[in-house]
Formats: sequence, structure tokens, C-alpha cells
Amino acid sequence: MADESNAKTDVVGPTSASDDVLRVEHISKRFGPVTALKDVNLHLKKGEVLGLLGDNGAGKSTLIKILAGFQKPDTGTMYVHGQPYEPKSVDDAREHGIETVYQDLALIDELSVYHNLFLRKERVHKPVPLLANRQMKREARVALDQIGINIPRIDVAVARLSGGQRQAIAVARTINSDADIILLDEPLAAMGAKEGAMILDLVARLKEEGRVSIIMILHNYVHVLQACDRVSMIQDGAIAIDKPTSETSVEELTDIVVNEYRRAREEAHREEAEAAAAESAGGEAGTAA
Ligand SMILES: Nc1ncnc2c1ncn2[C@@H]1O[C@H](COP(=O)(O)OP(=O)(O)O)[C@@H](O)[C@H]1O
Ligand SMILES: [Mg+2]
Repeated sequence: MADESNAKTDVVGPTSASDDVLRVEHISKRFGPVTALKDVNLHLKKGEVLGLLGDNGAGKSTLIKILAGFQKPDTGTMYVHGQPYEPKSVDDAREHGIETVYQDLALIDELSVYHNLFLRKERVHKPVPLLANRQMKREARVALDQIGINIPRIDVAVARLSGGQRQAIAVARTINSDADIILLDEPLAAMGAKEGAMILDLVARLKEEGRVSIIMILHNYVHVLQACDRVSMIQDGAIAIDKPTSETSVEELTDIVVNEYRRAREEAHREEAEAAAAESAGGEAGTAA
């Protein structure tokens, strides 16, 4: 089976490791005329941090949204802990233990920092179901301190925070859940160097604990090599590279992307030239008929 699907020899087919917490086979997704994903095969082992790479528009966020139950794939199958996984919604995905920080952040601007942290898992008093605000504030403070992100006031609306602070809250919310699979779509975007380092430290801590498995989209290859156990790169709608980070380097990853860019540009030029030739040939045929 590996042979027939691996016409491109560098495309890695799904492996059925018994410790895979997540497996994705032959996922495709189109948006009208745009093919975002063609044939994606991916797996994630328990306790592993997988770096998902790819150019802008490669389909990384689309894949994350499919895994997160936010979008449905056109084709393909997914498995969580070996069981078929067809999330009906983000809540359904969450019930399967999958939590996501989206690239386009899902914070509610008008709500306070601590309310955002407890979004959809609000603490309530019993038996009278009132929001346990004091408890949430206390727990929010602990959660943010754990990450080491400095947010002086947690009762202000998140609309008043910087991009990096908002990102930190989204990451804190996810990491504080009892998810066992965490998806982070560009968690360091909009963050300063110090905040970014804190998030990477946090990921390293989670990795040490070994409880959660993480797929993380990062742009900086130095960060990728530092934080991830393995890298997968999406090119042309499929996974083109799947390697342990110990077997690759910033140079190799950069070369792959640059070469792919050159190849795509040459192909575009050739197609344009062919189209122009066909047009002029068609024109002549038209006048001859
Ligand atoms: N909801 C959508 N509607 C139409 N096109 C989309 C939608 N989401 C993504 N796309 C397109 O799919 C491709 C992949 O996008 P995306 O997954 O966001 O890429 P990446 O995260 O790798 O930059 C892009 O061409 C993008 O414009
Ligand atoms: Mg994206």
C-alpha cells in the first residue's frame, strides 16, 4: 500500500504506531476553486511535539481547523487513540480531548481576561448557578503566573490588551484544560521575544511531563528545532517532509522551501508560456477554419 500512494517517494504515508494518539489519512479540502489540502497523512505520538510547517497558504490552518472540529474535510479519515474520529463541532473535538489555539484568535473582546480564560467552562456556584467570579479570578491568576506572562489586571476586557497578551491568554486557556491533544496555530505570532520564549518554555515543560501531545505551527525554524520532536511540512496540499528534528537543520528546511518556491515559479512560467502558445495556435486554427 505504501508503494501505490508513494509515487512521490518523499511523501510519508501514515504509519500505524500503536502509540499514535492522532492519525490523519488522505485528508483533502477544497474551498471552491482553491484546493487547500490534497492528500494529507499525518500522525502524532503520545507526548510528542510535532512542528507543522509550510508556506503561507499551504493549508496548515485548514488542517488544524479540521482536526479541531471547526471545518469538515472533503475526504479522508481521522483516528484519535485508534478510534475513528469525525468531530461534529469544536465542542465535540474538545470532548475527544482536543483543544486548539487558532491563528485567528477566539477570544471575546468584551469579556474580561479571566472570563475568557474560563470561556465555556465557567465555574458556577451550587446550588444557585451564579458565576463563581472570585474563584475564576483566583484560578486565572494562578494559571497566568504559571505561564509567567505578565498581565497586571485580569478584570479588564481583553480588547484592551496587546496582541501578545491576547495570544498568551488563548494559550493559557488551552494548556489549562485537561486536553491530551493540543493544537497551536502560530502561538508566537504577535508576541515579543520574551513572551515567545515563555510559551516555548511552557511547551518544553509540557513535553517533559509527557501527558499531552502537541501539534504546533511555527514560522521560525530555530524555534521549531528547539521546541519540536519532529517536523512535517505541507507542500502542494500534502506532507512532503516528515522527519525527527534531530535529523534536520535550519539550512535544510530553508533549502526545501526555497527550492519549492523556485520550482513553483518555473512551473507557473511554463504554464503561462504554454497557454500563450496554445492561444496563438488556436487563433491560427480559428482563422484557417
Ligand atoms: N474559509 C475559507 N474560504 C475560502 N478559502 C479558504 C478558506 N480558508 C482557507 N482558504 C484558502 O485555503 C488555502 C489554505 O489556507 P490556510 O489553511 O489558511 O493556509 P496557511 O495556514 O498554511 O497559511 C489558502 O489559499 C486560503 O486562501
Ligand atoms: Mg495559517
